[in-house]
Amino acid sequence: MGERENAITRKLTVALIGCGGMGGTHNLALKALSDEMDVEMIAIADCREECLEKGAAVWPGVHKYGTGMELLENESPDIVHICLPSYLHADHAVRAMKKGCHVFIEKPVCLSKEEGELLLQTQRETGVKVMVGQVVRSFAEYRYLKEIYEKQTYGKLKSVVMQRLSRKAAWGFENWFMDEEKSGSVVLDLHIHDLDFLRYMLGEPDSFTVKAASFDTGLINQVITDYQFKDIFAVAEGLWDVSPAVAFEPSFRASFEEATVIYNGTKDPALLVYEKDGKVFAPELKKDDQMQDAVSGINLSDLGPYYTEIRYFLECLRSGKEMRRAPLEEGVKSVLLGLEELEAAREYIKGHKSNG
Ligand SMILES: NC(=O)c1ccc[n+]([C@@H]2O[C@H](COP(=O)([O-])OP(=O)(O)OC[C@H]3O[C@@H](n4cnc5c(N)ncnc54)[C@H](O)[C@@H]3O)[C@@H](O)[C@H]2O)c1
Repeated sequence: MGERENAITRKLTVALIGCGGMGGTHNLALKALSDEMDVEMIAIADCREECLEKGAAVWPGVHKYGTGMELLENESPDIVHICLPSYLHADHAVRAMKKGCHVFIEKPVCLSKEEGELLLQTQRETGVKVMVGQVVRSFAEYRYLKEIYEKQTYGKLKSVVMQRLSRKAAWGFENWFMDEEKSGSVVLDLHIHDLDFLRYMLGEPDSFTVKAASFDTGLINQVITDYQFKDIFAVAEGLWDVSPAVAFEPSFRASFEEATVIYNGTKDPALLVYEKDGKVFAPELKKDDQMQDAVSGINLSDLGPYYTEIRYFLECLRSGKEMRRAPLEEGVKSVLLGLEELEAAREYIKGHKSNG
């Protein structure tokens, strides 16, 4: 079928499962897009009363549920957004797909190879569209990096170093981030953003080596991976253990033949190009999230790339165009690489006990 046959022109109904930190952001992004994209939230589920009520207040009359499965039993929306703790992703996504719903699911899409295979098989059987919240693919600064890499604007890329530094992730529902079985540790929760972006830009790595450290509990809280992508090397660090006094800091430094490009999410301007002849400038970025939404009154710059990725998902559904930016198979491939890195991290820690 062509794009036009796949396009959806009527109103799209949406349900949101999980309305904590990330679900709250999805909820506002959907509200901000509701007029332009003709979408309406019909149901929200969260097992914490205060999160459910806060999310539901945005959509008067929305149906409310205490669990995601209860919602899926009773509602048949066109789209389901899954913003649950990661260990609950796969079951809910399979259930939603089997109901014929298109799914937007947060990263990491799942936590094991078996779950990844089940998700892909269910998608093949149902034919629904699934996008994964690998949001770095929607950051204007990272999109700029990918564009100048592909166009060779500053010659060939020689190396790229990425970092993502966070305080201990102790804010989740029942402290689920701090349980490796539930979050996949810093590797599958935080570092997956950078490994996913590196795969998106450079393809699969030829090889990698890992160094890692853990909390006293054994939970891995730091990973530094050294990758080789043909003649380009990359290093990416994910750290869940900086002082709470340090702001969350994503960054990269890309060395091209003719320029060095440096991004630091805590700085303004965040992205600077340092050309070899000494010229320094902040490139103009293509952002669709810089204004106030006139209808909802929501400040889109607070939602940033989360708004951008959800808008892209809805645009693909509306137009019937292929979902290229972060489709399910890409989310699963990033989990598979993350699982290999997690295994290597465990091995590293086992071999360097004094560090563990
Ligand atoms: N893309 C990003 O940048 C980004 C950032 C943060 C988190 N995430 C991802 O988003 C997901 C959610 O993370 P979070 O920070 O919002 O976690 P959270 O703990 O703040 O929110 C999860 C919510 O799910 C609810 N919940 C738990 N079990 C439920 C069930 N069975 N039915 C209904 N509700 C249930 C909890 O009450 C909670 O409100 C995770 O997969 C995480 O990795 C992505």
